[in-house]
Amino acid sequence: MRIFVHPLPKYLSSDVCVLIDALRATCTISAALANGASGVRPVRSIKEALKFRGEALLAGERNGVKIEGFDLGNSPNEMMNLQGKEIVLTTTNGTKAISMLKCDTVVAASFPNISAIKNFISSFDRVDLICSGDNGEISLEDFLLAGMIAELDENPTDAARISQIYARSVHNIKEEALRSSHARHLIEIGFSKDVDFCTSVDTLDVIPILKDGVFRRLIS
Ligand code: MLT
Repeated sequence: MRIFVHPLPKYLSSDVCVLIDALRATCTISAALANGASGVRPVRSIKEALKFRGEALLAGERNGVKIEGFDLGNSPNEMMNLQGKEIVLTTTNGTKAISMLKCDTVVAASFPNISAIKNFISSFDRVDLICSGDNGEISLEDFLLAGMIAELDENPTDAARISQIYARSVHNIKEEALRSSHARHLIEIGFSKDVDFCTSVDTLDVIPILKDGVFRRLIS
């Protein structure tokens, strides 16, 4: 299989796209679905999210902080007891990156569901990994996760190869993630438990797949 690694968001048309926002959007989406949410609708703006008030729980952040008047932040640790509830989520980078994709299949990858995602994509011929980054800058944690997934490609493109080499050089994911500027920001504003959650590997067996604008749990 060929894996294309995109270190930053871009307008992209492709068959299978894996969206990565390791801290925290794609982790929050996975946690919500694992904890019973019926769906997570990613939207680009606060204004768009507000249209769903009353129909769904509004969740999101700007610069890491919960949006005023919203029900939830963008915290995987807040995604509890959501049986049958739909979430509308808007985040600084992750949901913006999703809005740039025109792909037949979009799934959300994070460290907690990395093996589930790798299993899912392994049968496709071509897969694009899109890192959300941080306000236009490459994010260490997104690129690390991309490199771990790109291991599936035995004949990698240049970008996939660079990501693989980086990922192979990392022996402790948590320790490495703590070096990222966004992890340090989240810890500074009181979200060290989220950094912990989001950098735990294979704790969630869930594949969030986008259908008609909503991430649903893929039942295999
Ligand atoms: C984002 O989309 O920029 C992030 O998920 C930010 C965060 O809440 O940590």
